[in-house]
Amino acid sequence: MSKILEEYFRPGTEEHALLEQVDLARLPRHVAVIMDGNGRWAKSRGLSRVEGHAAGSESVHETVEAAARLGIEVLTLFAFSRENWKRPRQEVGRLWQLLKEFLKKEDKLLVENDLRLRIIGRRDGLPARVLRELERVETLTKNNRRMTVVVALNYGGRTELVDAARRILEDKRIRPRDLDEDVFARYLDTAGLPDPDLLIRTSGELRISNFLLWQVAYTEIWVTQVLWPDFRRRHLLQAVVEYQRRDRRFGDVKSRERGTA
Ligand code: IPE
Ligand code: IPE
Ligand code: MG
Repeated sequence: MSKILEEYFRPGTEEHALLEQVDLARLPRHVAVIMDGNGRWAKSRGLSRVEGHAAGSESVHETVEAAARLGIEVLTLFAFSRENWKRPRQEVGRLWQLLKEFLKKEDKLLVENDLRLRIIGRRDGLPARVLRELERVETLTKNNRRMTVVVALNYGGRTELVDAARRILEDKRIRPRDLDEDVFARYLDTAGLPDPDLLIRTSGELRISNFLLWQVAYTEIWVTQVLWPDFRRRHLLQAVVEYQRRDRRFGDVKSRERGTA
């Protein structure tokens, strides 16, 4: 096991035992996370919802670092949906402020770990000061290679699909007969990224909530009851261990069953 992993997942701990069950040669390339349950976490402690969001920042830090050390190529975090604008103004305002603070404080985490930031979602709806900070960190990290951290902000899967369709219609180089799945995917916000292999949702909800609708066609889904502010590196490892036990068939039959029909 590499030193990078040994110093992070200390021998003798629960996470080290989990790490020993992980086949590092068969990691998911892309892990996507619906970070849910901040409000319930806060409520159970008699705190306000925004305090739950603040506590969730630590989980983001830990998940980013653990995923990078493991060797995951792409980590996508769903941070704010198109539908989240329906929430009380004060909560929405605090969420954007927290994101801005996180970027100011955590740009070091990205730089020191050779991580690249990429944003998906409708940029035009973001508060100007948040967008400025996002673009600063995107530029700062644009040549980093170890892992891409994709943050979905003002993101909705249906909006992304409709926007892609519009861009295709506007692109005079595309003739209808040339349109296929690969061409279509190049017009999505996630152009150039592999589809998620593993989708994690915290807080026990069994739904997609308009996240990456196109991209999750064959993604393995892992739902945990753990609320996002309680999510730690060991939970990421649990998800990877479970993912590696799955039999991904993509509509085919298992290879050993071929020829037995
Ligand atoms: C996830 O936690 C954070 C965002 C959606 C921004 P929630 O705020 O949805 O927490 P619950 O689901 O109400 O517990
Ligand atoms: C999904 O969580 C969006 C994010 C995690 C940013 P929600 O809490 O908004 O989803 P629903 O409303 O429970 O489906
Ligand atoms: Mg929620």
